[in-house]
Amino acid sequence: MTALFTPFALKDVTLRNRIAVPPMCQYMAEDGYVNDWHAAHYAGIARGGAGLVIVEATAVSPEGRITHACTGLWNDGQAVGMARIAATIKAAGAVPGIQIGHAGRKASSNRPWEGADHVPNDDPRGWQTIAPSAIAFGGDLPKVPLAMTLDDIARVKQNFVDAARRARDAGFEWLELHFAHGYLGQSFFNVDANRRTDAYGGSFEGRSRFLLETLAAVREVWPEHLPLTARMGVIEYDGRDEETLAESIELARRFKAGGLDLLNVSVGFSTPDVNIPWGPAFLAPIAERVRREAGLPVAASWGIDSPPIANRVVADGQMDLVMIGRAMLADPHYPYRAAKELKLDKPSWVLPAPYAHWLERYAIAE
Ligand SMILES: Cc1cc2nc3c(=O)[nH]c(=O)nc-3n(C[C@H](O)[C@H](O)[C@H](O)COP(=O)(O)O)c2cc1C
Repeated sequence: MTALFTPFALKDVTLRNRIAVPPMCQYMAEDGYVNDWHAAHYAGIARGGAGLVIVEATAVSPEGRITHACTGLWNDGQAVGMARIAATIKAAGAVPGIQIGHAGRKASSNRPWEGADHVPNDDPRGWQTIAPSAIAFGGDLPKVPLAMTLDDIARVKQNFVDAARRARDAGFEWLELHFAHGYLGQSFFNVDANRRTDAYGGSFEGRSRFLLETLAAVREVWPEHLPLTARMGVIEYDGRDEETLAESIELARRFKAGGLDLLNVSVGFSTPDVNIPWGPAFLAPIAERVRREAGLPVAASWGIDSPPIANRVVADGQMDLVMIGRAMLADPHYPYRAAKELKLDKPSWVLPAPYAHWLERYAIAE
């Protein structure tokens, strides 16, 4: 068997293969509502044969959006459009997943192709950000957030719960809590971003509290039979990597004890001053360590798109799922291409039958 194309079962959900599309913001929503662009994008990506398609970082509250054009699930109207997206992904044979999150001090940015820098508070498209402490991210994101009060913390946790409930009712079968990439969850955990002196800061216990409490609250509304997952930056590449990784692995163990089913292992991106060793599958050994030491299924992304490498990281037990991002944007039929390159028997059958039958029967000259 070609490892990349073996099914993967988690709770009551079975993915047709190990290829997952990670959340990728489209920055095309208005007031958090999805539109025809999202329908076209997700239909295209899902019919290409991936086992799982995770809808982009979707904000749990208006101030939790990365940009003014991010999707949201803070009201029931937004959930109507999201239900269409979930149904479209499912119709194409992939499991529909969604990432919900809050961007914390990195919120209120311009879209990437418009600079990705902070939009000032007095600009109609900007807003006041909130975070564990009143410390700016820095670089292109200089805005100083307001330090969250205990009421703010309670409200945002409830926002996560309400968004999870809407995602469930909209037909999503896989939930990912966004605790990565320097956004709110990650910055509660990060020692430099979180300087709180109350129960939500300081020690490992304090810095983990918001994440664990949010997970526990979401667990109450997310169905037991469906995968509940999170994305976490387990390493920063800021020179304190062993310490961060050890803490992250301990957090992953507590996530598991709290009912988490899989961790999408990523980089922290908590400060602009890092030295990331970009290269093919550079996170694979880190993912493998989290998987082994925390005893939790893991997924990872970042440059794993060479089919032999994608196949190997699964075959070697470094990760359970391979997240293929930009390569899926470039070619939504990446799974078909990978199946051909890995010399799968009848590679077309990684695609839905209405495509596969004809491709297999009448080989196209290449
Ligand atoms: C256009 C774009 C949007 C992204 N949006 C998100 C997001 O919403 N949430 C997230 O956790 N990561 C996001 N990422 C990171 C991807 O999920 C993924 O980790 C990254 O692209 C690396 O994988 P790749 O090398 O296969 O592209 C985004 C990446 C891209 C290219």
